[in-house]
Amino acid sequence: MNFTLNEEQLAVRDAAREFAQNVLKPGVIERDTHMTYPLDEIRQMGELGFMGMTVSPEYGGSGMDYISYILALEEISKVDNSCSVIMSVNNSLVCYGIEQYGSEEQKRKYLPKLASGETIGSFCLSEPEAGSDATEQRTTAIDQGDHFLLNGTKNWITNGGTSKIHLVIAQSNVKEGHRGINCFIVEAGWKGVVIGAKEDKLGIRSSDTHTIMYNDVKVPKENMLGENGTGFKFAMKTLAGGRIGIAAQALGIAGGGYELSVEYAKERAAFGKPIANHQAIAFKLAQMATDIEAAKLLVYRAAWLKDADMDYNQAGAMAKLFASAVAMKHSVEAVQIHGGYGFVKEYHVERLMRDAKITQIYEGTSEVQQIVISRGLLKGQLY
Ligand code: CAA
Ligand code: FAD
Repeated sequence: MNFTLNEEQLAVRDAAREFAQNVLKPGVIERDTHMTYPLDEIRQMGELGFMGMTVSPEYGGSGMDYISYILALEEISKVDNSCSVIMSVNNSLVCYGIEQYGSEEQKRKYLPKLASGETIGSFCLSEPEAGSDATEQRTTAIDQGDHFLLNGTKNWITNGGTSKIHLVIAQSNVKEGHRGINCFIVEAGWKGVVIGAKEDKLGIRSSDTHTIMYNDVKVPKENMLGENGTGFKFAMKTLAGGRIGIAAQALGIAGGGYELSVEYAKERAAFGKPIANHQAIAFKLAQMATDIEAAKLLVYRAAWLKDADMDYNQAGAMAKLFASAVAMKHSVEAVQIHGGYGFVKEYHVERLMRDAKITQIYEGTSEVQQIVISRGLLKGQLY
């Protein structure tokens, strides 16, 4: 076993850390409070190569490995989880989905702008009646000979208001069940695409989450992604990698709260000594560090399996299940360590606590991760 990061991975991690601490941190409270989309910050992330990190340079990406991507996400998530979710959807769902399953024409047409961050993408699977139960797609895409006619409503779509490219999952043949589902590349500017109001959320408040309606949208046949009937499997396979990204986001939230807590506990004095010297606080820090380290091993290992082209479905689900629980538990502890100061925005930990919750919900709830893990185990895929 080799637990060391190579030079390129270390350089990516340092660049992301510097960007997060110096560029994202100064405005993050303001953006969170006013739900302001981080337009300029995302543009800068594109310039740094963070919006298409694993995409081949042939299609305008940075050509890095998944571990580098995870390290960058983790550092950005220590500070700004709106930026990290925008980055994660664009990288691990949209860019990855098109690069892995798209035709050569689709890759050449859509990837360069997505990978540079000039255009942002969204991944449209969830519906009012199909969240965890994702095969229950009500959105339809009916073959009309020379095009598909798309009708339906997607909800909770990250990047919904800003993205120009949507990957839309829809049912084309209800009799076939999940084998009738397809995925389409839909452009936001096409007739019949209607963007609903922006959600006012507990956390990741400056990311834009919208309902999107598709009303008689004509989708050219060449915009179907992959073979007919493979859209559900495409979604599952893409999400398996995306979940490692959300696990890294959770790891960053826990790590960010931990770093702030160590700093604060050394500075804040009570009863004549720094609170870090009270055993109750020191033990909280010890537990935080231990749980974060355990989460890190799961997350990095899942990314390593992906880089090694090995099965990472269960490993990614385990990483997300565990890291999101660690983020939730220890972001609450970070607030506790900060006392009353932790309850106000200026100290950053209350925001991390609000952001932590979503990591247990999106890209498959914790219960869905347990379904993925247990089904694999029961099928004899021993971990
Ligand atoms: N890879 C390949 N194929 C897979 C697969 C995988 N990882 N997982 C399932 N499949 C295949 C199965 O083999 C099966 O195909 P066959 O019948 O041909 O064998 C088919 O898909 C259906 O699988 P299941 O019978 O397991 O399906 P299910 O209805 O029991 O549901 C589920 C399984 C895991 C719960 C799935 O519905 C699921 O993942 N739900 C959660 C949805 C989700 O994660 N949404 C996230 C939306 S995106 C998002 O959230 C972005 C964001 O916030 C930022
Ligand atoms: P439900 O499926 O209704 O689940 C409700 C509860 O029941 C959960 O606790 C769940 O775990 C539990 N449950 C359901 N079924 C089972 C079961 N079989 N066994 C045990 N427990 C079960 N989706 C996209 O497609 N694209 C996006 O970009 C996107 N971004 C999002 C951003 C935000 C801020 C949010 C809040 C959501 C986003 N989602 C997105 C949707 C997200 O993936 C879903 O909310 C999630 O998959 C859960 O679906 P649901 O909300 O319908 O909950």
